[in-house]
Amino acid sequence: MNKFPLLRGLSQKWQTSFSPQRRKFIKLSAAAITTTGAAGFGYGYAVSHSVALSHVDVTIRHLPPEFNGLTIGHLSDIHHGIYTSADYLRRCVTLLNAQQPDLVALTGDFTYGNRAYIEPCADVLSELRPRIGTYAVLGNHDYYQGAGHVARALRRVNINLLLDERERLELRGAKLSLLGVDDLYYGSTDVLKLLHDIPADEPKITLAHNPDFIEEFAVKNAHVDFMMSGHTHGGQIRIPLLGAPHIDSDYGQRYAIGMNQCREMRIYTTRGVGTIGLPVRFDCPPEIVLYRLQPA
Ligand SMILES: [Fe+2]
Repeated sequence: MNKFPLLRGLSQKWQTSFSPQRRKFIKLSAAAITTTGAAGFGYGYAVSHSVALSHVDVTIRHLPPEFNGLTIGHLSDIHHGIYTSADYLRRCVTLLNAQQPDLVALTGDFTYGNRAYIEPCADVLSELRPRIGTYAVLGNHDYYQGAGHVARALRRVNINLLLDERERLELRGAKLSLLGVDDLYYGSTDVLKLLHDIPADEPKITLAHNPDFIEEFAVKNAHVDFMMSGHTHGGQIRIPLLGAPHIDSDYGQRYAIGMNQCREMRIYTTRGVGTIGLPVRFDCPPEIVLYRLQPA
């Protein structure tokens, strides 16, 4: 005997209030929703492993002719782990090498979920072949897995880690400063110290995992010409015409994806190549960027 008369009543109502055709329709609808969800997940998973190459021209004031046409390949948010395999990362590296970049910039979040992925990730990144060098900064996930471990692994394969450091590139006497800042959440970067004594008219290009960092420069009235960032994954899941339901940023959608500006500073936020949370992307495929510097 059913101890719950209300449920018994509802059950009887279900059986008596819907015709057999109606019940069949509801069952078919439920099956369709389940199938669509699975198909959607499959589609989102496939998209998350279909990396796209974006070509972006970056105009820089006072760019010396020697650096006109310099190319920088940008790879970010690899998140090597259960969702992002070494084979997929190797495909990304091969695609980037095929562009023959002068520099490669890696803007953090190398692994996801387990520090056992750090060394294998560095091994694949050792296959990068830029003409001048590979430069990197750390992201918040690198701190979750142990910033020291990540730093040692990157340095082991001769990647130049710029943790609140800068490197001056010189070509036939012309100069360009490359700056790297520590993670916005876990580091303690002094932007004025970092920029100290760099001539105002010398181009300054910055690597910063979190695009919100551009506001740190603005609030100190400091200036960099161009910043390369990741972190947001472009939202990872975007809804056409509406954008991403969630962006991990204090500035909402302002620096969520692509090229944006803060005062006179330009910033590009790449969608990155990996995923976190669910291994899916919608309307937001993974991205490798190839920048080409041009004088303004
Ligand atoms: Fe990330």
